[in-house]
Amino acid sequence: MKKRLSGKRIIITGAVNNIGKAAVQAFIEEGAKVVIGDIDVERGESVAAEFGPNVLFIPVDVTLEHSVAGFIETGVAWLGGLDVLAQNAGLMASGRITEMDSEQFDKLFAVNVRGLFFGAKYAVPHLRKSGRGSIINTASLAGKRGRPGLTIYSASKGAVIAFGTTLALELAVDNIRVNTICPGWVDTAFNDPIVDLMGGRAEQEATVAASVPLGRQGQPAEIAPLFVFLASDESSYVNAQALLADGGAFNS
Ligand SMILES: NC(=O)c1ccc[n+]([C@@H]2O[C@H](COP(=O)([O-])OP(=O)(O)OC[C@H]3O[C@@H](n4cnc5c(N)ncnc54)[C@H](O)[C@@H]3O)[C@@H](O)[C@H]2O)c1
Repeated sequence: MKKRLSGKRIIITGAVNNIGKAAVQAFIEEGAKVVIGDIDVERGESVAAEFGPNVLFIPVDVTLEHSVAGFIETGVAWLGGLDVLAQNAGLMASGRITEMDSEQFDKLFAVNVRGLFFGAKYAVPHLRKSGRGSIINTASLAGKRGRPGLTIYSASKGAVIAFGTTLALELAVDNIRVNTICPGWVDTAFNDPIVDLMGGRAEQEATVAASVPLGRQGQPAEIAPLFVFLASDESSYVNAQALLADGGAFNS
């Protein structure tokens, strides 16, 4: 049986831990060839070795234009073209507004927002050639509705949503779709800063139990199928969307 991503050439950032790694695993299982980029070089090399010949790790710092430009160029050369760009690299910081400093603000926006601009800028010419390109950006439930202590992070993820819905309007003429994935609580160490601010793991679990209709956090493997769907031609009429995978939290 033909796999859902047979022949798809995919580049993904933030790809070597948790949600990104789960997405890569799902991409491979569905027959794609994948370039994985991350700032975490040690993990990147071990994850690439784990996944085998259809995966290449290329180090990238998404905050630096020359790094992203070189990453895309080398990745596209290895893949022989590009059908999908998934931008999952992200950073979290939390704190009350009076306690946040400008370095934290700049770093959050550099990773979460500036990086998307560079990725799209250098990938779009290649996606145009594909004739059926897809850009997938990872935002967050926090980009739609935040919580105390997450103002700067939420602002950055709100920007990710606006970036994607607007870029989709510009690229539709090239049949490049742009969609955004908005996970809710996913059980990874990424959330440690906000969990600390909430008072610890027990307080976080109590908040999740009270605010998520499904009553639990999600797992990275429960977000990965959204990446596969948006990368595949099954989503050929899904465009300019910000899709929640949040256990129902947004509507609770
Ligand atoms: N875990 C959650 O509850 C949750 C919820 C909503 C959204 N998200 C988003 O999902 C994505 C992945 O989150 P995760 O939980 O898997 O966290 P994670 O920390 O495991 O993944 C983030 C990845 O981005 C990489 N990265 C950070 N800075 C980078 C840079 N400058 N250049 C290149 N790579 C860089 C990290 O090394 C890491 O591999 C993030 O964008 C995050 O904002 C996570």
